[in-house]
Amino acid sequence: MASKAVYLNGSYMPLAEAKISVLDRGFLFGDGVYEVIPAYYGKLFRLDDHLQRLENSLAAIRLTNPHSRDQWQAIFAPLLAADKNQYIYLQITRGVAPKRDHAFPANVAPTVFVMCSDILPFADTDTGIAAVTMDDSRWKLCHAKAITLLANILHRQAALDQGSAEAILVKDGYVTEGAASNVFVVLDGVLVTPPKGNAILPGITRDVLLELAEKNSVAWREDAISVAQLNCASEIWVTSSTREIIAVVELDGVKVGEGVPGPLWHTMNGLLQAYKQSLL
Ligand SMILES: Cc1ncc(COP(=O)(O)O)c(C=O)c1O
Repeated sequence: MASKAVYLNGSYMPLAEAKISVLDRGFLFGDGVYEVIPAYYGKLFRLDDHLQRLENSLAAIRLTNPHSRDQWQAIFAPLLAADKNQYIYLQITRGVAPKRDHAFPANVAPTVFVMCSDILPFADTDTGIAAVTMDDSRWKLCHAKAITLLANILHRQAALDQGSAEAILVKDGYVTEGAASNVFVVLDGVLVTPPKGNAILPGITRDVLLELAEKNSVAWREDAISVAQLNCASEIWVTSSTREIIAVVELDGVKVGEGVPGPLWHTMNGLLQAYKQSLL
């Protein structure tokens, strides 16, 4: 399969030839969901977890999964390269309806799109990033990985406009997550992350870190994090599939801890890298 090939509704084709109708409900309404699945040297990372989250996202928007687990795996396989780190991006929309109407269309097949991109090393992994807090302007379905990402985009851009790399979102005085990441803090030596619910995306990287913490006797808990606690945390991290664990070394212009990735970041990042290696 030539590189730059993508999958669209049953066929593989060069990216430039992948076209959808302007009546697609993803285009008109943002009516769809997506997944991002890392693949290290051709091996999909935590595939079952990602496909379970996809199933949950589809259920949240009342769309039937068009493929079984095995069918998904067969769709991904030709897009993967055995010699590099990549991620699968897959998107399912409610399809192309005959006209623009908010109501679900009857008897319309979903649009299924899959592409594969290289994971480029994140420039600031070793140094950490600056982040800014802002009021979380999103809706009550944040647990669904919906393509409707306008609020997240505005949050990320507002952070970039202030010279920071990520927005840390706050709802009613408590941290939810980042614009495109989950949040962890270290409080009195304990790793703390907000509990799952409809205010955050249940990140796969988040789950992996909690598993690794448990296995390696690192104290952790899922708990609400107030802004006051965030401001006195000795370490703050943001996590995601493509950037992994990134330390926040400056928050709202103030140094976090010593202003460098902290000791627990080094421990957990080491455990994550070893875990990834063990799966190859
Ligand atoms: C809003 C949001 N929260 C959390 C995450 C982290 O999820 P994962 O670790 O599965 O990539 C992402 C990933 O992009 C995200 O967009």
